[in-house]
Amino acid sequence: MDRIRITGGQRLSGTIPISGAKNAALPLIAACLLTDKPLTLNNLPDLADIKTMTRLVETLGVEATGGDVTEANGGRRLTLTAANITETTAPYDLVRTMRASILVMGPLLARFGRAKVSLPGGCAIGTRPVDLHLNAMERLGAEVELEGGYVMVSAPNGLIGNRVTFPKVSVGATENLLMAAALAKGQTIIENAAREPEIGDLVHCLNSMGAKISGQGTDTLTVDGVDELHGADERVIPDRIEAGTYMMAAAITEGDVTLSHVDPGALEAVTALLRSAGVIVEEGDRTLRVAMDGRVTGVDVETQPYPGFPTDMQAQLMALMARAQGAAMITETIFENRFMHVPELVRMGADITVHGASSLVRGVDRLVGAPVMATDLRASSSLIIAGLGAEGVTEVNRVYHLDRGYERLEEKLTAVGALVERVSDERTF
Ligand code: UD1
Repeated sequence: MDRIRITGGQRLSGTIPISGAKNAALPLIAACLLTDKPLTLNNLPDLADIKTMTRLVETLGVEATGGDVTEANGGRRLTLTAANITETTAPYDLVRTMRASILVMGPLLARFGRAKVSLPGGCAIGTRPVDLHLNAMERLGAEVELEGGYVMVSAPNGLIGNRVTFPKVSVGATENLLMAAALAKGQTIIENAAREPEIGDLVHCLNSMGAKISGQGTDTLTVDGVDELHGADERVIPDRIEAGTYMMAAAITEGDVTLSHVDPGALEAVTALLRSAGVIVEEGDRTLRVAMDGRVTGVDVETQPYPGFPTDMQAQLMALMARAQGAAMITETIFENRFMHVPELVRMGADITVHGASSLVRGVDRLVGAPVMATDLRASSSLIIAGLGAEGVTEVNRVYHLDRGYERLEEKLTAVGALVERVSDERTF
């Protein structure tokens, strides 16, 4: 199985192009199911999860054409046409590898009156239920049944708009409901909606397809259902989590890195935190320069829904804080069980103790390379950052997690001076 081998201690310097956002692209791919006309997506990243989602909609009968690189950052252009849907079941084999597969439920239910979706798997971070998705569909009049590991939702006479107040902010449930409500009869009001930039991208796409959604950027979205949607030509927003990860990499190596093809506005919480830790962050129009001289200062942080500090950056921040001057208290409020990177960072010399939902990170002078592995995507990227900032060689195992979310990781890092390679022999060290 592939591993990434890093020889740490190299100062990163140069430019890293940021890819399109995985988490924005996944719901846009699902949105093609809402119309029989072509939906063209630009700036798609070349990632395992994008391929899985494309394969999933193809299994349902979608025709996917194109896929060539059309952007300077490596972004691809793909056209999806759901004119001949032959299947409304999302099978276990595909869904188990990626939780976002549940996003086909809303569009299938809205357009065909039924969907059957295997209960999802994905990253091993907590129990990650889908109750909010299912309750939202019920509020629009759908019947929900669970059988044999599948959820079956049906609304033979169509969905009917309603008020849906989420008890908890959920990105995926907001997206699923937006897509279902777009083709429902009458008005749906979504309260306590997620405000992540990826939601904004989906609203933009749906409105380009003829939907009537307002309130974007606030926690209340209003959807006036329409009878049918049409095609569109959309662009996936930049990946703020990929960008944030490289910001941490620049800081831990005391480097000077410019990120291109980014949206600095979507990274404000990360930028503010890095600045308070002593990192220089300069915002350009579509660029971010991150420079650091010396060790960062320990800062406390709590993950929050957008516009707060993202849970998807928590593990990477912890790697940076492991070498801080002083201590950092990092509190995870979104997912339970999202500290699986801690024992691995400790094996590299970090001083971290977990107290419930908080981790106390006491910064150390040096981290030392080690063979490590992680069981989810962002935990894996935190080990990459720690490896870049450590002395000696770090090998990060289970690279398939990284391939789900980081396009050409070793190529991008090598281009700015990191010593990173992918190895695929069976030797462990
Ligand atoms: C999305 C992101 C993921 C990110 C997360 C939070 C995608 C593909 N993934 O995941 O990278 O970490 O947002 O920013 O966009 N919950 C329930 N019931 C539900 C749904 C969620 O209790 O039906 C809980 C979750 O367990 C979690 C919280 O709500 O505690 C937020 O999860 P949610 O925003 O739904 O995450 P995802 O959309 O799965």
